[in-house]
Amino acid sequence: MSDGTEATSPRRLAVCWSGGSGIAYGRRLVEVLLELGHEVHLAATGAALRVLEHEGGVRPPDDLATLFAGPLRARLRVHALDAVESTPASGSARLTATIVVPCSMGTLARIAHGWSSNLVERAADVALKEGRPLVVVPRETPLGVLHLENMLKLARLGAIVLPAMPGFYHRPRTVAELVDFVVGKILDRLAIDHDLVRRWQTPSQSPSAEAAGPFDEGER
Ligand SMILES: Cc1cc2nc3c(=O)[nH]c(=O)nc-3n(C[C@H](O)[C@H](O)[C@H](O)COP(=O)(O)O)c2cc1C
Repeated sequence: MSDGTEATSPRRLAVCWSGGSGIAYGRRLVEVLLELGHEVHLAATGAALRVLEHEGGVRPPDDLATLFAGPLRARLRVHALDAVESTPASGSARLTATIVVPCSMGTLARIAHGWSSNLVERAADVALKEGRPLVVVPRETPLGVLHLENMLKLARLGAIVLPAMPGFYHRPRTVAELVDFVVGKILDRLAIDHDLVRRWQTPSQSPSAEAAGPFDEGER
């Protein structure tokens, strides 16, 4: 992993929002990918838009692209949920990866069973069938047996199950830092360079180093 200044070559990714809590993770992932120069194909379920309203205090705009700063939108393609003719619906589009974040238990179950009733589920199904990275970021607590079985099934099918479980060892002070922890984990798993989080290193015995925290010098 670089120090964040060495850019990963531009990738083309599908980011799908479903109706789990934590729409902030999905929004931030899109923002960071666009800032890093990657092309993003975005689809959202109806429940995701409801969560956006409840959690983000944002009335879902007719065009989701307007949630992002103007200059970033050039690399963003927003697709309707029923747009099964769109890029993420086809294996021939050769997307680098598909990320479902947040991933509701309903969408998780449908992906695990190949339901493909909308573009989000179809994009995930395409990633699995093509053997391309599929990252699902489930969020629910407590987890029932059905949820756990569906996650295990997806993991066995080759999906990367990356629960929205921010760590605290980097001493976060803001919600934004907790969000970036999870987004950073997604990017790490896809080998996309970023500098969203400070990286752990062997804790020092020195009291002054301990006060600063066990992180690489110069990294945030
Ligand atoms: C504010 C809010 C938070 C929710 N949080 C979760 C959650 O964390 N996990 C989950 O599985 N469902 C959650 N739900 C319920 C899902 O949105 C609901 O099951 C929906 O049918 C999922 O649809 P989708 O899979 O098509 O997005 C939440 C709903 C709302 C309104």
